[in-house]
Amino acid sequence: MEFRTIIEPFRIQSVAPLKMTTAQHRREAVAAAGYNLFNLHAEDVLIDLLTDSGTGAMSRDQWAAIQHGDESYAGSPSFDIFRTAVQDLFPFKHVIPTHQGRAAEKILFTVLGGSDKTIPSNTHFDTTRANIEYTGAEATDLVIAEGRDPASQHPFKGNMDIAALDAYLTRNAGKVPVVMMTITNNSGGGQPVSLGNLREVRAVCDKHGVPLFLDACRFAENAWFIRQREPGQQGRAVADIVRDMAALADGMTMSAKKDPMGNIGGWLALNDDAIAEQCRNLLILTEGFPTYGGLAGRDLEALAQGLKEVVDHDYLRYRIRSTAYLGEALLQSGIPVVQPIGGHAVYLDARALLPHIPPLQYPGQALAVALYEAGGIRGCEIGTVMFGRHPDGSETPAALDLVRLAIPRRTYTQSHIDYVIEVCQQVGANAKALRGYRIVAEPKQLRHFTARFEPVAG
Ligand code: F0G
Repeated sequence: MEFRTIIEPFRIQSVAPLKMTTAQHRREAVAAAGYNLFNLHAEDVLIDLLTDSGTGAMSRDQWAAIQHGDESYAGSPSFDIFRTAVQDLFPFKHVIPTHQGRAAEKILFTVLGGSDKTIPSNTHFDTTRANIEYTGAEATDLVIAEGRDPASQHPFKGNMDIAALDAYLTRNAGKVPVVMMTITNNSGGGQPVSLGNLREVRAVCDKHGVPLFLDACRFAENAWFIRQREPGQQGRAVADIVRDMAALADGMTMSAKKDPMGNIGGWLALNDDAIAEQCRNLLILTEGFPTYGGLAGRDLEALAQGLKEVVDHDYLRYRIRSTAYLGEALLQSGIPVVQPIGGHAVYLDARALLPHIPPLQYPGQALAVALYEAGGIRGCEIGTVMFGRHPDGSETPAALDLVRLAIPRRTYTQSHIDYVIEVCQQVGANAKALRGYRIVAEPKQLRHFTARFEPVAG
């Protein structure tokens, strides 16, 4: 490369306006929302980093593909185009479209779960865990120790602890219907899994006769990290690395709202004929006929095109570099973030930045609200608000108090991110003045979505 600057490898063809707001307006809006950023009107948000899920910008060619959608109830050619694109990267025998990732999880675990079952993963995503537990089964996280340490520089912090998995499968013989691997590990900071680790997981699964499924939402970002960081993988085509990952698994669940560049969509894919038949029967019950699942023909076409675009090296170089650009700038400004910087998000360490706010006064919430008030940036607390409350009603601090700034795909430019950096710097400089929060109303489950807060007097 002759020049240092990595530019967005696209130009903007269609724009959506951002509403500029004043700090006074934002303070009022967030107070009216009970200091819960999920309760805000999205138009009161300037830079929305709540999630990278379904929030990306589709390409010209995806919009063109939408025009090609065939809405036949059964046997739509759009399904063939979709299935071909999925199987080109993930050559599983059966491809079952769903409206999003959690629908694929619900169907798979309805078939494989149950009260006498236990299902390990490097780290289950919340919806995966919830869908497993809903069947009465247990969900267990067996990520390597480095994956739990925000300061560890391990290149593959999403890796499974192989010895722990082997012991787990021995201890729970006959009770484990499937081993899951989340790539990249979202709940662990968007951290990748190495091909070498996947091979070892496969070998342990073979030893115990248990199938392996991928939760592959961010497969292309994971493959790019493998190409960059894993010995022997440099110079390979990302699509080939993805095929290698797929070849090690027996099936996958997928949220097409992430790397496949969709605003909606997902799928379940697998090789086993009998399980696939049971899954299709459940699909018909809640999602739809097997050639469209929970989607319109036009969505299937847009996803097929998105799958081609996401394995493009220029795109992935820009994607991973631009996330790192934000993380590195924050580190240089003295704002603690989870390292190495992950693929789809930067995770601010609110507990480290706000040591004067006790965990049970929610430093992550305090930081998230401060970023919104200061600059209209919406991130997501991933900490004691999200994980601190237990089924018996008790509350303890979560392992970490983080704020995730997730980057929608192809949506914001570098100047938007420069603005985010500036707002974070200002909030960081005033960190000592921030106060904690107390919860004034909360539901029994998943309280982070709807709880209402008020500032603790300081
Ligand atoms: N698995 C992982 C690793 C995810 O990150 C998500 C969603 C899902 C499964 C569920 O997919 O939303 O299509 O039903 N993650 C989003 C996020 C919500 O913000 O990280 P879905």
